[in-house]
Amino acid sequence: MLKKIKILLGEVDLYNPLNEEDVELFRLKFLGKKGVINDLFNDFKLAPNETKKELGREINALKKKVKKKVETFKNTITKPKSSKKSDLSRPVYLSLSGSRHPISIIKNEILSIFNKVGFDTSEGPEIEDDWHNFSALNLPKEHPARDMQDTFFIQTNPDVLLRTHTSSVQVRHIEETPPPIRIVSPGRVYRNEAISARAHCIFHQIEGLYINEHVSFSDLKQMLIYFAKSMFGEEAKIRLRPSYFPFTEPSAEVDIYWGLKNEDDYRITKGTGWLEILGCGMVDPCVLDNCGINSKKYTGYAFGMGVERIAMLKYGLKDLRMFFENDIRFLKQFSCL
Ligand code: DAH
Repeated sequence: MLKKIKILLGEVDLYNPLNEEDVELFRLKFLGKKGVINDLFNDFKLAPNETKKELGREINALKKKVKKKVETFKNTITKPKSSKKSDLSRPVYLSLSGSRHPISIIKNEILSIFNKVGFDTSEGPEIEDDWHNFSALNLPKEHPARDMQDTFFIQTNPDVLLRTHTSSVQVRHIEETPPPIRIVSPGRVYRNEAISARAHCIFHQIEGLYINEHVSFSDLKQMLIYFAKSMFGEEAKIRLRPSYFPFTEPSAEVDIYWGLKNEDDYRITKGTGWLEILGCGMVDPCVLDNCGINSKKYTGYAFGMGVERIAMLKYGLKDLRMFFENDIRFLKQFSCL
């Protein structure tokens, strides 16, 4: 016990509080009801009689030292100035706020354009199975169109993969919800592609789907015109080119008129003045049947667009890699949006 008291005396000697709060903690530790000194007095009662004299002296010395230390520090530590004495002319500290990523800004803008006219947002997993990403979408195993989307498989199981498009969310949603269905599905997608100014192995898509009785291609076209005008302004013009997707029939690709005002425009539009922005079509009846919807009663349209592509058009960017490098000088430019 004597040894313990010696160590405590040493601790008190070395103690150097930073502020008032520290002093109070120190006082409570030693002089509080359940503090060190009271503990020592309790132990003292059980000590052999012949040691009591010395022990008593040492415990009292410790107590005195602690009290003195507390008094001294209480008087010397300066209290923080009260708010009344603050220097109100001092310039404020700049607080740097973060900013939304341009991909999130464009994604939210696209979603809100569709949410406004009754499309719900519906999301799905990034790790998918073969059924939802391919087979249900009319892309059975060995179908040559699977080559259009180079796939990352998870480990060696060919049934588990990183989704190559957000069309997989269509399948999940249709399987679970009876028509009418009106959804937009944003998300990250993955393809095993060489990274360049125009392609990346990770990018973002938004899928749209409308299923009901009597849905026609003209409904799709009307929705696309509404989207183009909302996104790119009243003057925006689109054209539909016949195309092929396994999950839609008929299928089309949609171009927006970019113009041919300067040399750059000629280069990016390959001299046509038009730029592709999305793929679309009438949902193939096989897809509806695969997902348990009566294709004799219901029809639907679907579309899918790349968010990076739209963001590049909107912001006039030439290199898609900028979105993934997290260069603060680039991202800062979007802070007021
Ligand atoms: N899933 C297609 C892709 O990633 C995009 C697409 C095209 C989606 C046509 C659709 C569609 O819903 O109808 O290339």
